[in-house]
Amino acid sequence: MKTKGALIWEFNQPWSIEEIEIGDPVKDEVKIRMEASGMCHSDHHLVTGGIPMMGFPVLGGHEGAGIVTEVGPGVEHLAPGDHVVLSFIPSCGQCPSCQAGLRNLCDLGAGLLAGVAVSDGTHRIHAKGQPVFPMTLLGTFSPYMVVHKSSVVKIDPSIPFEVACLVGCGVTTGYGSAVRSGDVRPGEDVAIVGIGGVGMGALQGAVTAGARNIFAIDPVEWKREQALKFGATHVYPDVETAMMGIAEVTAGGMARKTIITVGELKGADIDNYLNLTAKGGTCVVTAVGSMLETDVTLNLSMLTLMQKNLQGTIFGGGNPHYDIPQLLSMYKAGKLNLDDMVTRQYKLEQINDGYQDMLEGRNIRGVIRYTDDDR
Ligand SMILES: NC(=O)c1ccc[n+]([C@@H]2O[C@H](COP(=O)([O-])OP(=O)(O)OC[C@H]3O[C@@H](n4cnc5c(N)ncnc54)[C@H](O)[C@@H]3O)[C@@H](O)[C@H]2O)c1
Ligand SMILES: [Zn+2]
Ligand SMILES: [Zn+2]
Repeated sequence: MKTKGALIWEFNQPWSIEEIEIGDPVKDEVKIRMEASGMCHSDHHLVTGGIPMMGFPVLGGHEGAGIVTEVGPGVEHLAPGDHVVLSFIPSCGQCPSCQAGLRNLCDLGAGLLAGVAVSDGTHRIHAKGQPVFPMTLLGTFSPYMVVHKSSVVKIDPSIPFEVACLVGCGVTTGYGSAVRSGDVRPGEDVAIVGIGGVGMGALQGAVTAGARNIFAIDPVEWKREQALKFGATHVYPDVETAMMGIAEVTAGGMARKTIITVGELKGADIDNYLNLTAKGGTCVVTAVGSMLETDVTLNLSMLTLMQKNLQGTIFGGGNPHYDIPQLLSMYKAGKLNLDDMVTRQYKLEQINDGYQDMLEGRNIRGVIRYTDDDR
């Protein structure tokens, strides 16, 4: 079918809304009419080249929710009319990683940046006659998608789409960074650096896990105010100020867990992040740095002698097929605040305004809400 999508044709260019052609669902594929897509910072890494897809044009978007309209052969647990969230990590349940319980490390993830369909290895999307590379096998910046069933999670149809989409990436990643990868325990002190969609998910995870002090660090004053509303106990505009403040509050002990959710991760900052972290503590690195950067500043002696852990995480160490419905059930029970995380809603054609608002710190999360005008 012919529809629209937000594409980039080279680095550092604005998103461009253009006609795209999507193939019909083949075996194990699902066609979805999209209702909402979050604007995660990771799509901005596609623009800067920090995360390079394996070719251009790229169709962006990996945090979406919609309604199934058609299923191909071999799709047994989904049917037309089902409300679904797209997981940015496919999770097949069959590969060795999935079998080992590491569902966020599913072997299908090897193809996340390759742009070809899991089902048959072909390009399913074309624009101007050229093959298109969709972000993480999805491409939620389009009002229709055809994707492999391993990326599709059925949800409670009473959840509004504009909040449901957030658990396809940002919220689940942040929440899991605290409760799974960070293993935050009751009474621990937690520092979160960067209060965007992912950081606010981490903050809510730390609150739910029973953290004692939650230190939120962000240069934007409005973000710090929001962090306090969501349960932070102390806020700081930068890591240097936080270092002094956290040292005072913890009598020099620092934060047992630190969670790094800044927009752009820099190797030069890693040592500072570890200095915020208590001896024996864990620094969870959720933010993404440039794929081309390998330099890190790190005091190796202190890493060893203070027995600290430096922990990477993808999708917060979570299981898409469990965590997505679970977090939405917590939302429904009033235990997870997703409503106040959706700061602004946009039309697809306003996507560049949405990303400008993200870069200027005006949104916890901006969400594209599709209407018939977009289709
Ligand atoms: N590991 C994963 O699975 C995963 C998943 C989703 C997103 N991410 C990454 O997580 C990061 C955050 O994503 P997001 O969508 O929340 O981004 P965002 O732009 O919404 O939020 C980033 C926040 O960091 C703040 N910030 C920037 N520099 C800072 C600094 N030096 N100190 C303190 N705060 C600073 C910004 O003001 C902003 O509030 C990105 O790098 C993104 O690519 C990783
Ligand atoms: Zn994301
Ligand atoms: Zn798998």
